[in-house]
Amino acid sequence: MEESLLPVLLLALGVGLMQLCSCSSPADTVVCTDGTSNCTVTNTYGSYTDRAICHAANVTYPRTEEELVAAVAAAASAKRKMKVATRHAHSVPKLSCPGGQEGTLISTARLNRTVRIDAGRRHITVESGMVLRDFIAAAAAAGLALPNAPYFYGLSIGGLLATGAHGSSLWGKGGAVHEYVVGLRIVTPAPASRGFAVVRELGADDPDLDAAKVSLGVLGVISQVTFALEPLFKRSLTFVKRDDSDMADQVARWGTLHEFADLTWHPREGKVMYRQDDRVDVSTLGNGLSDLLIFRASPTEMLVAARAAEELMQLKDSNDTVRCAAAQLQASTLEQQAYGFTNDGVSFTGYPVVGYQHRVQASGTCINSPEDGLLTSCAWDPRINGSFYYNSGFSIPLSQAPALVADMQRIRDLNPDMFCTGVDGRLGMVLRYVKASSAYLGKPEDSIDLDVIYYRSHTYGTPRLYADVVDEIEQMALNKYGGLPHWGKNRNFAFDGAITKYPKADKFLSVKDRYDPDGLFSSEWSDQVLGIDGSPNIVKKGCAIEGLCVCSDDSHCAPEQGYFCRSGKVYREARVCSFIKD
Ligand SMILES: Cc1cc2nc3c(=O)[nH]c(=O)nc-3n(C[C@H](O)[C@H](O)[C@H](O)COP(=O)(O)OP(=O)(O)OC[C@H]3O[C@@H](n4cnc5c(N)ncnc54)[C@H](O)[C@@H]3O)c2cc1C
Ligand SMILES: *[C@@H]1O[C@H](CO)[C@@H](O)[C@H](O)[C@H]1NC(C)=O
Ligand SMILES: *[C@@H]1O[C@H](CO)[C@@H](O)[C@H](O)[C@H]1NC(C)=O
Ligand SMILES: *[C@@H]1O[C@H](CO)[C@@H](O)[C@H](O)[C@H]1NC(C)=O
Ligand SMILES: *[C@@H]1O[C@H](CO)[C@@H](O)[C@H](O)[C@H]1NC(C)=O
Ligand SMILES: *[C@@H]1O[C@H](CO)[C@@H](O)[C@H](O)[C@H]1NC(C)=O
Repeated sequence: MEESLLPVLLLALGVGLMQLCSCSSPADTVVCTDGTSNCTVTNTYGSYTDRAICHAANVTYPRTEEELVAAVAAAASAKRKMKVATRHAHSVPKLSCPGGQEGTLISTARLNRTVRIDAGRRHITVESGMVLRDFIAAAAAAGLALPNAPYFYGLSIGGLLATGAHGSSLWGKGGAVHEYVVGLRIVTPAPASRGFAVVRELGADDPDLDAAKVSLGVLGVISQVTFALEPLFKRSLTFVKRDDSDMADQVARWGTLHEFADLTWHPREGKVMYRQDDRVDVSTLGNGLSDLLIFRASPTEMLVAARAAEELMQLKDSNDTVRCAAAQLQASTLEQQAYGFTNDGVSFTGYPVVGYQHRVQASGTCINSPEDGLLTSCAWDPRINGSFYYNSGFSIPLSQAPALVADMQRIRDLNPDMFCTGVDGRLGMVLRYVKASSAYLGKPEDSIDLDVIYYRSHTYGTPRLYADVVDEIEQMALNKYGGLPHWGKNRNFAFDGAITKYPKADKFLSVKDRYDPDGLFSSEWSDQVLGIDGSPNIVKKGCAIEGLCVCSDDSHCAPEQGYFCRSGKVYREARVCSFIKD
């Protein structure tokens, strides 16, 4: 491959190095042929893990809680399946698809208002369709801050709670947003005598709140959520790059040292970028801003070129040296630009970046944008042939983290270059802290969450270069170290048996039986994931390449292309598709 392709490869991830934006906001994930009827629904990537198209009879857009109750009652009276749709459905798995083919979608896109702010108690109540960006802004306007949040602010409050979404912290209540919920209102089906739908108000002491805080959307529609916040504060962050030789010792410790700590591991480089990030007094100078490059809009032309280059690099006779150089150049470019952090909202002049919580906790300017005819877009927008990737995220108990890191390093040491396409070639592996939760589907123990994104082909069953490395790590984390898949990320096999690792799953299911006895908010996918009916695995030709199964037979890989089902290199119990040269 030509050296001249290298700059283009920087954008393999869709990293926007230009700031041209007036960009196109993301596509609607619900599309109907006949007004609000005869619809399809997908996720923000335009493709669920099984690549199937999800059909729904129709969609409604309630603007008030009364309209929401009416929508649930109408479907419940007809015993019709239903599902909440958010504006952009960022979850990777098939969570936003209603059961059957003729369900109703209830969109929360227009339920996006602030209901009430109680400044004295520092409580804020919002409608569930509010996007995180607007929530953070509304809180800040009242002098309040949500201490932890996902790093991308395009997610909705209802959706991010449903999947247990988090930032990173072991301090205070921890990294997960649901820890800050002190009440909510949820609309559930009801008997005819009660009008087919009711609003249930759950206060802080209601045990059902532990079910509703992280619900996968199967209990009903959350209408409003009340959070307990903190006075707006400032933080000071610095990225510290170190050799990874003592990473196994540092991995659990780092989170106890800094309130907003995280780590990004670049296995091929043998480096860890430690995020040293703490609260500081509000009088500390600085007006820093997070506008992460990976969540900025990028010129479509560059995204398309980057994808083409990435596809070339997937060819198995292409060259590791070039791939690794590209990965290294990308990492150093991001590092030089401080990942998109600035000290004053304009330029980066050096660490530490000091700023108010609401300006540095999350970003996502690619969603802000007016239409520009798709000249620019979010990197993952399916309307252009840009970035298309898998996103795996799984947490393991913090106590297991040193052993998992040591095992991953053993795999790496066999041949570091294997990581250039899958891990270093993207963002590296991001490790974040989440505390044990009382939520029935939250983390049972203090945990560390490992997040990776990697290449996905547009064509079913196409082998991915060095797929065996990432697949072995995922199986090792899930099976050897008791890993739990993020509910809103991952490929099918990661959910196989996951529910058995939640000690309070039975409590969750009994609330579900009370709230929605006919399973109207349940789907094939949620039944498979919750262990109610069927398996999340789809076993067929090529399934292991797609992550729909763990291979047990060569046909689950691509034997005709030299990919066979083999043991892992370090974790021998893993079964992964490996390229075997003749
Ligand atoms: C670019 C990007 C960055 C991300 N960053 C992070 C991160 O930093 N940390 C992290 O933990 N995760 C992250 N995620 C994953 C994200 O948290 C989940 O995918 C989240 O569920 C998406 O929220 P959403 O509003 O798009 O919900 P959707 O994906 O649309 O919905 C998820 C589920 O919730 C249900 N639901 C939604 N609203 C309601 C409601 N009001 N009542 C009942 N059920 C409801 C839906 O029916 C569905 O079943 C990221 C995802 C993307 C695409
Ligand atoms: C419903 O939509 C599909 C495409 O998703 C289309 O082929 C079909 O004709 C539509 N049916 C009606 C009745 O409009
Ligand atoms: C949705 O479709 C179903 C089945 O066709 C129908 O009974 C119902 O009235 C429709 N609801 C709305 C809000 O259009
Ligand atoms: C709610 O969404 C509408 C568009 O659907 C938007 O115009 C409005 O600004 C949003 N309101 C808030 C408070 O974010
Ligand atoms: C890989 O590419 C590099 C740089 O272009 C070149 O020096 C090297 O010889 C190539 N290696 C192989 C095995 O083709
Ligand atoms: C994306 O690529 C596919 C296959 O190469 C092609 O069929 C499709 O038209 C392209 N889409 C766009 C928007 O360019």
